[in-house]
Amino acid sequence: MYGSEMLCGLTHDLRTIFLRQPRPDQAELAWLLLRDPSLHPDFMLGYEVPSLEEYIERVHRAKENEKGILWWICVDGQFAGVVGAYRLGVNEVEGHKTGRLYYAVSPGFRGQGVATASARRAIKYIFETNLATLLLAEVLASNRSSRHILERLGFELSPIIPERYEEGGRSYETCQYLLEPTR
Ligand SMILES: CC(C)(COP(=O)(O)OP(=O)(O)OC[C@H]1O[C@@H](n2cnc3c(N)ncnc32)[C@H](O)[C@@H]1OP(=O)(O)O)[C@@H](O)C(=O)NCCC(=O)NCCS
Repeated sequence: MYGSEMLCGLTHDLRTIFLRQPRPDQAELAWLLLRDPSLHPDFMLGYEVPSLEEYIERVHRAKENEKGILWWICVDGQFAGVVGAYRLGVNEVEGHKTGRLYYAVSPGFRGQGVATASARRAIKYIFETNLATLLLAEVLASNRSSRHILERLGFELSPIIPERYEEGGRSYETCQYLLEPTR
């Protein structure tokens, strides 16, 4: 599904961070970010970027997908990244409806609080609409920036993992974070 449009906050130089619905006719903007070398292998552990045509189709289909939610992040009206959750409503942890959080910010917009503000607003929406009662986020242990963001957002490191993940003949360690709504 596409998430509702929402204001998230301001960057440090007071530009507006907004979550908006994806636009299949502008999908190339998001596709170019997904192809950016700085995303790999950090983003969604081995996410394979499809062709542009297939990606446009996926953005169309995402609207009807009940197990995923997707927003585009905009800064002063300019495309700046993506945030969302997948495997939404699945029962990965006993007694919970879970979902897996992800986010990516375009290189020119990093270091200004964009990922933190966007993820915070997306999480609030997911919990308020009861799409999940527990969010999981799996990151590479070496992705310090993303781990700081998750910790700032209140995620706790799960003792269950680390797991190893293979890509391009290399092996990476991951860690899993968990977040429940505050009562
Ligand atoms: C990880 C990623 C999403 C971070 O995006 P971002 O918008 O730069 O993140 P934020 O600005 O919210 O936080 C990053 C840093 O900027 C700093 N920052 C936040 N607000 C700031 C502000 N107002 N002024 C200056 N710096 C600020 C944060 O303190 C943080 O520093 P830290 O790494 O020492 O904790 C981005 O680098 C990215 O897309 N990486 C590739 C994909 C990826 O790793 N995704 C996550 C796993 S799914």
